[in-house]
Formats: sequence, structure tokens, C-alpha cells
Amino acid sequence: MIVASGVELRAGSRVLIEDATFRVAPGDRVGLVGRNGAGKTTLTKVLAGEGQPAAGSVTTSGDVGYLPQDSKAGDPTVTARERILSVRGLDTIVKERTLAEKRMAAADDAIRERAMRAYARIDDEFTAAGGYAAEAEANSIAAALNIEAHRLDQPLGTLSGGQRRRVELARILFSGSETLMLDEPTNHLDADSIAWLRDHLKNYRGGLIIISHDVDLLDVVVNRVFHLDANRAELDIYNVGWQPYLKQRETDERRRKRELANAQKKASALLEQADKMRAKATKAVAAQQMIRRAERLLSGVEGERAHDKVAKLRFPEPAPCGKTPLRATGLSRSYGSQEIFTDVDLAIDRGSRVVVLGLNGAGKTTLLKMLAGVDDPDTGQVEPGHGLKIGYYAQEHENLDGDRTVLQNMKSAAPDLGETEVRKVLGSFLFSGDDVDKLARVLSGGEKTRLSLATLVVSSANVLLLDEPTNNLDPASRAEILGALGTYKGAVVMVTHDEGAVDALEPERILLLPDGVEDLWGPDYKDLISLA
Ligand SMILES: Nc1ncnc2c1ncn2[C@@H]1O[C@H](COP(=O)(O)OP(=O)(O)OP(=O)(O)O)[C@@H](O)[C@H]1O
Ligand SMILES: [Mg+2]
Repeated sequence: MIVASGVELRAGSRVLIEDATFRVAPGDRVGLVGRNGAGKTTLTKVLAGEGQPAAGSVTTSGDVGYLPQDSKAGDPTVTARERILSVRGLDTIVKERTLAEKRMAAADDAIRERAMRAYARIDDEFTAAGGYAAEAEANSIAAALNIEAHRLDQPLGTLSGGQRRRVELARILFSGSETLMLDEPTNHLDADSIAWLRDHLKNYRGGLIIISHDVDLLDVVVNRVFHLDANRAELDIYNVGWQPYLKQRETDERRRKRELANAQKKASALLEQADKMRAKATKAVAAQQMIRRAERLLSGVEGERAHDKVAKLRFPEPAPCGKTPLRATGLSRSYGSQEIFTDVDLAIDRGSRVVVLGLNGAGKTTLLKMLAGVDDPDTGQVEPGHGLKIGYYAQEHENLDGDRTVLQNMKSAAPDLGETEVRKVLGSFLFSGDDVDKLARVLSGGEKTRLSLATLVVSSANVLLLDEPTNNLDPASRAEILGALGTYKGAVVMVTHDEGAVDALEPERILLLPDGVEDLWGPDYKDLISLA
């Protein structure tokens, strides 16, 4: 159980939450929602004990399993299996078992014999601790999250970002913690795994706090909703499920609007009157009083939630280029003995649109990195055509430099652009005032996505390589970005699990990985997107 009382949260000089009091008990399945940058991640970090509130207190009883939004947790040299099992303290014994297994194959009789005795002892211990049942459970969670069995024996450091996150999610779900906190758990998950997660969580008996922009998931899973309103720095608590929450919030918002309109009408009448009276010296004091009353009226109402602003986006006019700005031939990649894909050919014509499909781990991100020139293929080559200008949007935002500010990141993306121009673009991506001096590393998930896209906008790229560009975005920002993508004139190669993103792109072609087969886009492929 988590109990928060009078919690105040700040980020730099900004107050994110003024005074929040709530508890999350077993059986509570809370959806924590709010615009990008509202403070959802900050709140869960504090609840998980990874940060301190500016005021108030948080007390926790029982274990808390916490999945951060972008986690690179875990020693990169341990295997995925050890990482998952470690949450229940089973990793050491499994490691010993593996070692004994290896030694049992030794040539030396004495070593072999010792290893066999050790193995028997470890095996007894493991059985007694319920290790086999637990291991089977861990395996089935991993399988449900589409982590292939052989990957479990790979060290974390060799896994892709998406795979690593799935390992973390499996670990948290395996933990059996009394309270779970999941920050955007569906990022990097395919549709099958999302469906499984939905079923798994809807029956969860412990406490659950889930941050997600996936409304279908929230609809099925949650029975309470906490709405973090960034404009009022308030956490609104709704003790109902998703649909009733949406209705109730709409009513609340209409009421606020009405109250504000009334107050404004009265206040402006007062001010008008005061204005007339001010001219006469004898009535100056009364006029002052009226002005003060008007001010009080306005500050008394909560105010319409300043309509959540959304970036108005347009991708830039692409720089001129030849007929085929980018061509790749015979690309392949393997890790050790494992082939990811072989002999992939691809020609990107000016203004063409391609969606890359393939199951998790089929190498979609790797292929995009090769096309972007940030990763070298094992064989084959990427040939830039005449006038090629690539805009690469990386899944993990690795194109941003965390130790430089928002403004500095933009300037290095567009060294020729003047400061005023850069600030203007940043403003249209909702970075204004002090925001531009924030270090990129403190940005929220959605803010990082916005900044990455802003760096593309200033680059006048003619080939955009987009890796899951809608992850982390709140629904309004997502709609805006998809709208801009629809009107973009350059070529786009996109990797996504988001059907809406594919609809917006209206691709002509698809490329299927790992086979590297190309085909014309058709409705038949629609099902594959969510499977991919
Ligand atoms: N050290 C800091 N200095 C200034 N601002 C900060 C700092 N750390 C975080 N912030 C800001 O605090 C705000 C809240 O961030 P948080 O990550 O909690 O948002 P979020 O609601 O999880 O958003 P998202 O939906 O995008 O993940 C953001 O605007 C972020 O830029
Ligand atoms: Mg967040």
C-alpha cells in the first residue's frame, strides 16, 4: 500500500503538484494521466522512493515493483534470465547451477565428480525454494512478452532497447510485489503482448499505478483515475473507471468554463464602471475598491483549464534531391552465430513512403540505424544519392545530447539557423521561456520526443527515418504529429506498431524483415502492423 499526504512536487522552479493526498491499496488499479511534461513520471519516482517530495510525505508498506519510463537498469553483463529471476533472489542459485552444469562436462574426472555433487545439492536447494515453479512462471511471462527463449541467456548489454525494456517489464511482473507502478509499459510492445498485459493487469489483485497513453488499455484495466492537471498543479482524483471518468471530467470542465465566463462578465462590468469613476478625484478611492473586487472575482475561480496547448507542426519543405536519394544493397547483420537479417535491398525514391514491418527483434531499429549511417552493416552498403539529407528519429532519443540544453541541441542540428529562428521553431514545439535552457536529460519522455522531432524540422531533410515516432506522446500531440506527417513532401521510412501512424502516412510500400521482401502496401498488411 502507498499513502501520500500533502505531497508537493517541483521541477526546477515550477510547481508540478501543489498538495496531493491519496492512497493506493490492494485492488486499486489507478490510471495516472495528464499531458506530456505534467509530472507523471516525477510523481511515480517519488512514490517509488527514488526522489523526495518538496513537501508532504509518502509511506509505503509491502514491496513496490517499479518500471521506469526509459530504463537501462541492470548490470549489462548479467543475462536476461538472471535479471528477471534476481527480483525474487533466485539469480545466484541459477548462476551456480549453470556453472555446475558446465563443469559436469569437464575432461578431468575429479572436477566432473565434484561438479555432479554440487549440482545435486544446488538442485535440491532450488527445488525446496520453489525454484522450478518460479522459473516456469518467469519463462511463461517472458514468452507472453515475446522474449524468445534463447534471448534469456544473452547478457543485457547485447539486447536492443525494446528487448531490454521487455525484460524489465517481465521482471516487475514476476516480482509478485504488492504494488506495481508501470510507466508507459506498452512502449516497445507488440499487439499480442499488449493484449496479454491487458488481461494480466485487469485481474491484478495488488495495487497498481499505470501511466499510459493507450486508452484501450486504461479502459480495460483501471478502476480509478488520477488526472494530473499541469495548469492548476493539481492531482484530480476520480474513484471510477475510465469511461465514467471521461464523462465526469467533461462535466467538470464545462462547469469551470461557465464559472469563469460569469466571473469575467462581472469583473469587466466592474472595471468599466471603475474606469468612468476614476476621472473624478472624489471617486478615485471607490474606483480602486472596484478594481480590487474585480481582481478578487477573477482569482477566486479556478479558471478554465487553459486549453491544453498542442504544438502546431509542419514538417519543412525538403531540400531538393535526385530521383533516388537513398539506396541500400545486400545489407546484413548478425550477432555471434545469430543472423538477424541478410541481403536486404532497398531503394528510397524521392517522396516515397515505406513502412518496415517485422516481429520484435527482427532488426527494424538496426536497419534504420544502418540507413541513417549510425551503424555499419556487416555486409552490403548504403549509398547516398544526389542531395540526400537524412532526418533520423531514434527510438531511444539517442540523437539528443543529454548534457546539453534544449537550445544547444537545436543549434547543433541546424548550425546555419539564427537564434531567433531556432527559438521560433522551439516555441511551436511548446518549448518556451526557461524551457529552452533545460538539459535534454531532464526532459519528460514526451518532451524528448518533441525535441527530437523539432531537430528534424529545422534540418530540411528529404528522407525521414522514423523509429516509433508516436511513443510517449499524449493523444493531442500524437494527432498533431501524424497530421504533419501526412502533408510532408519528402520520403519517409517508418517503423511503428501504431496503426494510426500507418494510416496517416499512407505508405506505398512495405519492407518485411527479416526476409527483406518488398511489397505494395495493401489492407492485408494492416493486421501485420499490430502484430509486428
Ligand atoms: N531538473 C529539472 N529541472 C527543470 N525541469 C525539470 C527537471 N526535471 C524534470 N523537469 C521537468 O518536469 C516536468 C515533468 O516531467 P515528467 O517526466 O514527470 O513528466 P511526465 O508527465 O511523465 O511526461 P511524459 O508524458 O512526457 O512522460 C517536465 O516539464 C520536465 O521537463
Ligand atoms: Mg513520463
